[in-house]
Amino acid sequence: MRLNDEEQAMLDGRDGPAVQRAMDLLVRYGTALGAERLVDTNNVCGTVGATMPFLRDYATKHGGLDAVFSEFNLDSPDVVAVPKARVFSSHLQQGLDPEHAERQNVGTDIVTLYRAGEAYTAKLGIQPLNTCAPYQVGNVPVKGEHCAWMESSAVIYINAVLGARTNAEGRESAGAAMLTGKIPYWGLHLEENRGGTHLIELDIDVKTVADWGLLGYYVGEIVQDRIPVINGLRHVPNLPKLKHFGAAAASSGGVEMYHVVGQTPEAPTLDAAMRGRKPVETIRYGEAERRLAYERVNTTAKHTEVDFVMLGCPHYSIEQIWEACQLLEGQRVSPDTELWIFTPRATKQLADQAGYTKIIEDAGGVLMTDTCSSVGRVMPKGTRVAAVDSAKQAHYLPAIMGVEAWFGTTADCIQAAVTGRWSGAFA
Ligand code: F3S
Repeated sequence: MRLNDEEQAMLDGRDGPAVQRAMDLLVRYGTALGAERLVDTNNVCGTVGATMPFLRDYATKHGGLDAVFSEFNLDSPDVVAVPKARVFSSHLQQGLDPEHAERQNVGTDIVTLYRAGEAYTAKLGIQPLNTCAPYQVGNVPVKGEHCAWMESSAVIYINAVLGARTNAEGRESAGAAMLTGKIPYWGLHLEENRGGTHLIELDIDVKTVADWGLLGYYVGEIVQDRIPVINGLRHVPNLPKLKHFGAAAASSGGVEMYHVVGQTPEAPTLDAAMRGRKPVETIRYGEAERRLAYERVNTTAKHTEVDFVMLGCPHYSIEQIWEACQLLEGQRVSPDTELWIFTPRATKQLADQAGYTKIIEDAGGVLMTDTCSSVGRVMPKGTRVAAVDSAKQAHYLPAIMGVEAWFGTTADCIQAAVTGRWSGAFA
């Protein structure tokens, strides 16, 4: 890999041992990937600190959070003092909501460690957005901007919908990018790798958020880590629809980029989306495919008594909270069910001011931040059957938490929360 003078100086230790370790990691990583050089980035989204049990143990045994950063963000053979982030960096989702720890069955000792992690993040100059959807709360990269982001649903959103450029980074490469402002120049940073591979012709109208989630789930399973191009759009999708499409496609497959012809920024025409190439496969998406996706995403669900309704995967936008409140206002969550809605911290503040938090709480639900049931492994005690409006969460929750999960519309889920029973159906 070719390094410029600045990068070589970092590798030679000019900026201290932590930056040296970070540059060393990026050179090893980039070389393994076949990257010829690094690229500058001023937008990194990653995770530091120790909210997971094994990381907490590691911090306790090895002397604190610099030890965790050294081992798990820098792959360093020794503990180094970690300086402030060199470039604009944001923290992704964490392992719990400290304001609702008791409800999440998390002990006060863990909350104390969590607060220490927050202080550590602030000391490093990393923005505590604490969400899987940073693009909803002020971190909105522009077309062509080179980024270094983790979190599959966020990676696909900023590549496809915003036209920014990132690969799906890991904790290590994102941590190293925070300290150097560099990331290997390969994969989706390169124009020639951003063209479509599979053409998806829509034979039906894809209208609702749930419809977009099903489409994403279906497409992801087929294309895996390639780039689908959606053609035949009849309605302009909004942020939640594209967010759910991408999150689902990144779950059933490993999709990091897609195009919607006439909609997303690198796809003004089909030819532009395909970069003039022929698709390796053309897939038609009609009613039969939509039904198949619905059945696939609902495979774990059997019992109709619902213990837990989880909304906000990816974290809800203010628009989605508003929509849920319209469905919920004036009703009561069933005594046999719990309703938890997840959103970024900044959005919760807005929801507090707009009265939405009160509507949710008056109904017996809770608006939570920072984490989600799959990542934080937090659920009401005794949950056996959950209901979600996210294909991604329906994919992961049964695997991670061993529960059944119903997938449906937000209205289906609110209905389940109020009645304690699942009555959603393919429609
Ligand atoms: Fe976010 Fe959790 Fe879903 S981190 S994308 S809400 S699995």
